[in-house]
Amino acid sequence: MSKRVAILFSGSGSNMVALIDSMTGDHPARPVVAVCNNADAGGLAKAEARGVPTEVIDHRPFKGDRAAFESVLNETLARHAPDIICFAGFMRIFTDTFISHWQGRMINIHPSLLPKYRGLNTHARALEAGEAEAGCTVHEVTLELDDGPILGQARVPVLPGDTPQTLAARVLEQEHILYPAVLRRFAAGDRTPIRLP
Ligand code: GRF
Repeated sequence: MSKRVAILFSGSGSNMVALIDSMTGDHPARPVVAVCNNADAGGLAKAEARGVPTEVIDHRPFKGDRAAFESVLNETLARHAPDIICFAGFMRIFTDTFISHWQGRMINIHPSLLPKYRGLNTHARALEAGEAEAGCTVHEVTLELDDGPILGQARVPVLPGDTPQTLAARVLEQEHILYPAVLRRFAAGDRTPIRLP
């Protein structure tokens, strides 16, 4: 039986789209819902165009009460009964209770070569540090932010004249290759890390 995949995103959702589009044919998983915390996110129409149900949970009314937001998110996820939750640019931080509940089923993509540059503004920080290469990481989500066993990494060169934007675009291309490759393996029960190129 196919694994059921929920994808959580906040913005343009290009990784979400890459994941959805990859789950066809003999892929061991299928997308069952795309969840977004922003009703204006461009990604919502892209999921709908692909026939994937969407759910919007605006975090703003829950300001200061993360647990209340998560309880609605939990109910929403439970209705779709995912085996796997893919975070694809979902810009919220979770409580330990939420993470513990879903642990072992959650994977995330982060735009740096972890353990370097956890958190935000990864490309600007990599450029400032004079890195010769950058990249992205897919990892299991555990209680530590942007940590957890690494399931895959893709590297790109930093080029002369790079800005955070040009570097981000180069890394994003690799995210769209790496994330589907890792999801396919993870859904088949294989956690062997993928290294690209
Ligand atoms: C990606 O760079 C992802 O790694 C980061 O947020 C960005 C989301 O982009 N966490 P998109 O919405 O998938 O286009």
